[in-house]
Amino acid sequence: MSQPPFLPFTRPSIDDATIEAVASVLRSGWVTSGPEVRRFEEELEAYLGGERRVRVFAHATGALEEVLRALGIGPGDEVIVPAMTFAATANVVRRVGARVVFADVGLSTRNMDLDHVARLLGPRTRAIMPVHFAGLPVDMDRLYALARSAGVRVVEDAAHAIGARWHGQRIGSFGDVVVFSFHANKNLTSIEGGAVSVSSADTALVERLERLRFHGLCKEPDGSYDIECVASKHNMSDVCASIGRQQLRHLDRWNTLRRNLAAHYFTHLESSPLAPGLPERGDEGHAWHLFSLLVPFAQYGTDRARFHAAMHAQGIGVGTHYPALPDTTLYGVEIPAGDCPNARTIGRQTVTLPLFPAMTVQDVKRVCSTLHSVLRVRTTATA
Ligand SMILES: Cc1ncc(COP(=O)(O)O)c(C=O)c1O
Repeated sequence: MSQPPFLPFTRPSIDDATIEAVASVLRSGWVTSGPEVRRFEEELEAYLGGERRVRVFAHATGALEEVLRALGIGPGDEVIVPAMTFAATANVVRRVGARVVFADVGLSTRNMDLDHVARLLGPRTRAIMPVHFAGLPVDMDRLYALARSAGVRVVEDAAHAIGARWHGQRIGSFGDVVVFSFHANKNLTSIEGGAVSVSSADTALVERLERLRFHGLCKEPDGSYDIECVASKHNMSDVCASIGRQQLRHLDRWNTLRRNLAAHYFTHLESSPLAPGLPERGDEGHAWHLFSLLVPFAQYGTDRARFHAAMHAQGIGVGTHYPALPDTTLYGVEIPAGDCPNARTIGRQTVTLPLFPAMTVQDVKRVCSTLHSVLRVRTTATA
């Protein structure tokens, strides 16, 4: 019997309407930042709800960096960052000259351990940067209570969390500064892109972000412009914005599909010997950007490289999100070996399983049975 088609761990959903929208921007004669960007920002504001202003960027990395700059964070300051996240969350702190302070994460939530954050807060702390890992919201009540009592800013790295909700409220519809990513593997993509959501009352911050995203320029009423600060270039093109706008129409439906597929993973894995590695289940507010399982490779007589190769040979793509930052060459030198043990365990054991809206529940079943056979795990049944 021939093998079913290769199943990647993620794949963007790009429909004909999106291709048509791009073609129409290309034909319009205006392809860089223009009317599509403004409409995308307005539609994101309407989608998030709340009294918010949204400004889009070329990517979340640039947005996060300029947010820190806009908040005046720099040399001599500390920012608390989870030890389990993508490189960008910590790198932007270093890029503005501030010090990264790593907080450990929960083994199943993979979100910042807020007890550890409380112990790390000090006189130099200027901000906490939580990541809603895989789309599971951080405990927002505790996070903001902690930040308020310490008098520090919160910059939410919501790269994984567009469409996620905390107690029914969308992530980005409230909170201090919230940054989304629209990179190709995210729940909503503009191919590359990002967005910052801030309170509409904070017009000064919105203006600073506008300057910092485009050369420090400020438009004058007579059509000329002034330059107010040294700045880089992080604007989103209309081509990318037109893709994002089309995606936004489908986002909630896609997130429901993701949630349903995640529920099937639980059905197949909950009674398996692999169950201890399952992620936190969360509730309806989970955006399920990633589904990652902890696999103690050595216990199954293998290692990550052999496991990935074996899954690949069976037609299934898997990923690693992420190596723990304290175990990387850059950040490892300054972090004692015993620090952030949960993040390091996750970094050694994590396996990202396929999850994207076009997948079927049969695909989930196939991933789980392949997983069990590759690891030679005995199971009673996988539904
Ligand atoms: C947690 C996290 N933060 C930030 C980023 C950076 O996003 P972008 O690729 O849009 O710059 C990513 C991207 O994967 C991410 O996963």
